[in-house]
Amino acid sequence: MKNNEAVFISTSEEMTMEFGRFIGEHAENGLFIALIGDLGTGKTHFVQGLAKGLGINDVVSSPTFTIMNYYEGEIPLKHFDFYRLDTEENLYNIGWEEYSEGGVTVAEWADMFPGLIPERAIYIYLSNKGTTEREVKVIWGEEAPDAITKEIEKYASCH
Ligand SMILES: Nc1ncnc2c1ncn2[C@@H]1O[C@H](COP(=O)(O)OP(=O)(O)O)[C@@H](O)[C@H]1O
Ligand SMILES: [Mg+2]
Repeated sequence: MKNNEAVFISTSEEMTMEFGRFIGEHAENGLFIALIGDLGTGKTHFVQGLAKGLGINDVVSSPTFTIMNYYEGEIPLKHFDFYRLDTEENLYNIGWEEYSEGGVTVAEWADMFPGLIPERAIYIYLSNKGTTEREVKVIWGEEAPDAITKEIEKYASCH
């Protein structure tokens, strides 16, 4: 399978949120974002921006203990965090199947359950490069939605 990627450096918390907002503004129903990166690399800040871009004004915090937070919107947002998830079964118990369709889905710690991530997912790898520097590497396969990956390529090339 052909993979594509785009990379840039985020130099501030605001910039990571801004990138999230950009994605939210270009998001279509069914978008799936898989977030991968250590603690403190900015996954949750990215999702805060993503929610803003979708026109959701709620306060977004990490669903570390609830595993999922759901935000109503013109396109709803489902924010997962797999960090404290023990097994895939537990996810099915909280309604993964109903929630994994429609709306925009974003999953922190997506690498913990790779089998749950659909082919159409856009992967965002965040890594620490300094106190406020984070490398943002976006990787996607053929099934990812074209319109938004084109926008991401443009975004990365001018940041
Ligand atoms: N460029 C950056 N992007 C995102 N967060 C940053 C950046 N620089 C510093 N930070 C800080 O890193 C932390 C990221 O926290 P958070 O978004 O909760 O990360 P995660 O969800 O990956 O654990 C925050 O304290 C934020 O202020
Ligand atoms: Mg987090």
